[in-house]
Amino acid sequence: MRNLLTVADLSSAEIDRIFAITEDLKTKYTQGRRDALLPGRVMALLFEKPSLRTRVSFEAGMTNLGGSSIFLGQEAGFGSRESVADFARVLSQYADVIVLRAFKHETATELAKYSTCAVINGLTDAAHPCQALADLYTLKEHIGRLKGHTLAYVGDGNNVARSLAEGCGRVGLKFAIAAPKGYQFDNEFRMHLKQEVPQLEMLETTDPAEAVRGAVAVYTDVWTSMGQEKESAERRKVFADYQVNEKLMAKAPEGTLFLHCLPAHRGEEVTDAVIDGPQSVVVQQAGNRLHVQKGVLAWILGAQS
Ligand code: CP
Ligand code: NVA
Repeated sequence: MRNLLTVADLSSAEIDRIFAITEDLKTKYTQGRRDALLPGRVMALLFEKPSLRTRVSFEAGMTNLGGSSIFLGQEAGFGSRESVADFARVLSQYADVIVLRAFKHETATELAKYSTCAVINGLTDAAHPCQALADLYTLKEHIGRLKGHTLAYVGDGNNVARSLAEGCGRVGLKFAIAAPKGYQFDNEFRMHLKQEVPQLEMLETTDPAEAVRGAVAVYTDVWTSMGQEKESAERRKVFADYQVNEKLMAKAPEGTLFLHCLPAHRGEEVTDAVIDGPQSVVVQQAGNRLHVQKGVLAWILGAQS
């Protein structure tokens, strides 16, 4: 039984396999076909934070695959009505897979420790692996072979940035991150990258222009993530020079793509002109969450496609 808590949990070959299943299922989906690869399988979604894309793409994906989903929000009392360990021991007897969205990454590792079914991280403070997989898949659709290209990330060194860094290492993309001091990757995560993703080529800078130079795609995420709302005024000041706007995009090569995991705080980390402009692939990127979740579910539950 496998879990997916971070992208580093996957080998390069496993990512290739997930993308191959995804491509097959997406092609069939666009032809109106829904392959019931997971009949009778049950997915529990356990969410401590709000979600549009992750929740709905997993639920819709499981329906497409012939399985079913049960959504558990705050009212389930996860971690408050009973311990995470007891919750995991019980829920994992009813479900084949649990998708968790939690504030703390430790909650995900604890849930996985005590669960007897597969656990997928649907976002924690430290990682958003399913997002990064959909992002890399979207890039692949646009540029084909990923190896040797550079993905630039401008903004907070947060959960999304960390998963992208791991993912880039696994698929052979270079990763250039521009973040202000105090919001860059910490040394513990840098060590983790060195150990777990030694093949990653990474440029860390405080200068967005330096990061986007030579990039095949520019990525940003919100300056204030869920759970950090009290810091938003301070963060707006710190990140003021990190907005992805037309001036910054002009410093990247012509045709550079723009990606964002969404939801976006328009006017903060990105302008309307960029996110709605010709270089933006954010809508396709969000659409691919559905297809890649299906690839992940079919892979983790061992379905034969
Ligand atoms: N990108 C993403 O995970 O969106 P949601 O928070 O809506 O799930
Ligand atoms: N970094 C953001 C991503 C949302 C999909 C957050 O954690 O809120």
